[in-house]
Amino acid sequence: MISAPAEKAKKDAGFHAANLVKDGMILGLGTGSTTYHAMVRLSARRKEEHLSIAGVPTSLQTAIRARDLGIPLTTLDDHPTIDMAIDGADQVDPILRLIKGRGAALTREKVVAEAAGRLVIVVDEGKLVTNLTGVVPVEVIPFAITPVMKRITGMGADPLIREGNAKDGPVITDNGNYILDCSFSGIVNPGELEDTITAIPGVVECGLFCNYTGKTTVIIGGEKGCRVVDGRKNQEI
Ligand code: 5RP
Repeated sequence: MISAPAEKAKKDAGFHAANLVKDGMILGLGTGSTTYHAMVRLSARRKEEHLSIAGVPTSLQTAIRARDLGIPLTTLDDHPTIDMAIDGADQVDPILRLIKGRGAALTREKVVAEAAGRLVIVVDEGKLVTNLTGVVPVEVIPFAITPVMKRITGMGADPLIREGNAKDGPVITDNGNYILDCSFSGIVNPGELEDTITAIPGVVECGLFCNYTGKTTVIIGGEKGCRVVDGRKNQEI
């Protein structure tokens, strides 16, 4: 159960991100509870300011929520480049590298991050870390699960197939794949690890996001309001 101050911090961060959105923008809509707050604020701004926007959802959950909130949806086929993606994260390090994928949406989230001109990450302070550490989610096609687990075990990690909460057996992603939660005792070079994992045949994507720091803005909700860390050089926030 998340505490009331933590929930307020998430809401503040989400609202702050939604307030950066300008009329006419095509957005990436991330997945998770903090992004949801941004979507609630976007929905209100649409009504109050007649903001014209459309979003590419990164999961079925986000698509359903956007429809409920009256946020128009679009696709990467119609908009292969998008103005801004708003998304959450599980860990953020001091140079804005991320671990994502608690919600098993990491592949679509990375595709949308790649397509976005700007990546706005919304978190509470509990997500900030000195070093990325611990569990890296990896999406794997079912056909390749055993050899991929062997490869990742050989890299010194302990991979576990993610299981459902309200379903027996493995979590199946929106793309029809498995998630391996890979526990690393220490991550010395996150960028190198991301490259190594994504190069394994059968891996679709991994939850390390190390290549977007130069277009990332992180909005951190805390007890005293929001703090903004901008990885973009000489740009207005
Ligand atoms: C889903 C994600 C989420 O963005 C991440 O887990 C953060 O979620 P929340 O805002 O609910 O803490 O990566 O795959």
